[in-house]
Amino acid sequence: MCGIIGKAGVGNVTPELLEGLGKLEYRGYDSAGIAVLRNGRPERVRAVGKIANLRDALDKTPLEACVGVGHTRWATHGAPSEANAHPHNSPDGKFTLVHNGIIENADALKRTVLADDKEWESETDTEVVAHLLQKFYTGDVVKALAETQKHLKGSYALGILCADYPDTIFAAALGSPLIAASVEDGSCIASDVGAIGGTLSEVYKIENREICMLTRDEIRFYTPDGEPCEKATVTVVPDALSMDKGGYEHYMLYEIMQQSSAVRKTLEPLLAGDFDLGFDDAFVRDGLKEIRVVACGSAYHTGLAAQLLFERFCRVPCRAEIASEFRYADPVVDEGTLTVFVSQSGETADTLAALRLAKERGAKVLSIVNVRGSAIASESDAVVYTNAGREIAVATTKAYSAQLAVFYALAVRFAAARGTIDEARRAELTHELAALPDKIQEAIDRAEAPARKLAETMAATQDIFFIGRRLDFAASMEASLKMKEISYINSQAYAAGELKHGTISLVEQGTPVVSIAMDGGMSDKTHSNMSEVRARGALTVAVTGDKNADAFADADVLLTMPDTDEWFTCSLAVIPMQLLSYYTAKNRGCDIDKPKNLAKSVTVE
Ligand code: G6P
Repeated sequence: MCGIIGKAGVGNVTPELLEGLGKLEYRGYDSAGIAVLRNGRPERVRAVGKIANLRDALDKTPLEACVGVGHTRWATHGAPSEANAHPHNSPDGKFTLVHNGIIENADALKRTVLADDKEWESETDTEVVAHLLQKFYTGDVVKALAETQKHLKGSYALGILCADYPDTIFAAALGSPLIAASVEDGSCIASDVGAIGGTLSEVYKIENREICMLTRDEIRFYTPDGEPCEKATVTVVPDALSMDKGGYEHYMLYEIMQQSSAVRKTLEPLLAGDFDLGFDDAFVRDGLKEIRVVACGSAYHTGLAAQLLFERFCRVPCRAEIASEFRYADPVVDEGTLTVFVSQSGETADTLAALRLAKERGAKVLSIVNVRGSAIASESDAVVYTNAGREIAVATTKAYSAQLAVFYALAVRFAAARGTIDEARRAELTHELAALPDKIQEAIDRAEAPARKLAETMAATQDIFFIGRRLDFAASMEASLKMKEISYINSQAYAAGELKHGTISLVEQGTPVVSIAMDGGMSDKTHSNMSEVRARGALTVAVTGDKNADAFADADVLLTMPDTDEWFTCSLAVIPMQLLSYYTAKNRGCDIDKPKNLAKSVTVE
């Protein structure tokens, strides 16, 4: 994953690089580093852990120069140590570089082209790039980079300094995002446009092994073979990375509180009929044979809900698939398949690769994305944007809720087009959908205090189980992921009826089992499963709608949410679960916004 940034400017660029790295920290925070060229000599400062540690290190060892590159790392090869932190140097010290991505053939290169190189400073895959540059350099960095790229397999965005070019940054990319842009006082590169200060609207996207050379006054492009070429800028919708926490202690809590507005902003255009899907209702009625929802993490969990919506209510076969599996499963998809790719960041490597595969095989490609202009959005036939605003906490909340809302709007539209609901039911669902943002707010208001209280008990537990059926199972999966990713408690989600086929053996006196029972049609069954774990000593927590509250009065802890149509229950079920995870993690003293070993944007497979 990792984030890179670079600037060739006028004054000292280090403060800007450091600020930019803060904005890229969502891409990884195992270590960070900055290198500059001062009087043609590379100088670097690196630190293990978050950017704050790099800032402290820079206070002790200031770097001052008008050309530099920076990096924030999510470790793939080699532990998060200072030696493995970027920037990395070539053995002769001529090249210093930062890298986002994975060089998949690094070991092979060390055994072959670089077999004579014995001095390795780190365990990273990146260092081979520095060695290759040294090997192929005869005074022309562009040519050396062209030759180096011929040997690299995998993905990369590279920012390179060369001691012989004291006012220049070289860059190249393949499969990892990298933009270059002119700013008032120089030229920049970055993994994400939001990391560059000011209000940028025109940027260059460096792609497909293109080579870029930046000085403070100009940006030049070269083909992968190193021949000069022209490149046009693309317009980006400014999506500044606001680092505002809205007065809350953590981004996650702020983002939980923003969910009503995120869902409202997402639904508004959709309820007004304003979405371009790249196909019409006639296709939905006559041409659509199957839907595949493909995504990772929480985005995949929205697919679990979508799968039920499309299949039960629209009567079209639908499967939710994990992108890293789909891409290698040799899937049978064709022009009758609608593939829907869901991604907050729009750059998750597995989701992007799965999308390319689906496209290659002729399927229709629709994506649901939060970050405008991202790779997944750009490569889809059509995009529905979630208007959740930038999400910073690693554990998603508001983007997940907004993604669900898009699926609801799609399901209502598809059901109407396929005639599985009549006009009256469509009007009823649309009305209920319009009311959802207010209900989400009510759910937040109702759940906050009890979730905080329950979290006091949860903080000391070793294991937690979440059970539910149908859409409640989809919500359980998300609830469980939220809990484990930020509190580090071992949590598992089970289809309530499946619990007795093994997992119930793990239930002991006091083990918390959360039964999600928002789906009225399934609540009796889930109640029975709750009774089964209760009989074995579990601490029972139930999440249900007002209408079912009496039926679950025997739960040890009862969290009641507003009622909604059964299609939309997932959105309300997850709210108390997000808050429970948040407060549990807080009680355990966890780093909520940046949980260990995780990153917000997963750009490696
Ligand atoms: C990471 C994040 C999750 C997210 C998943 C998919 O694991 O921590 O919150 O659901 O990636 O990311 P995407 O950007 O594709 O939604």
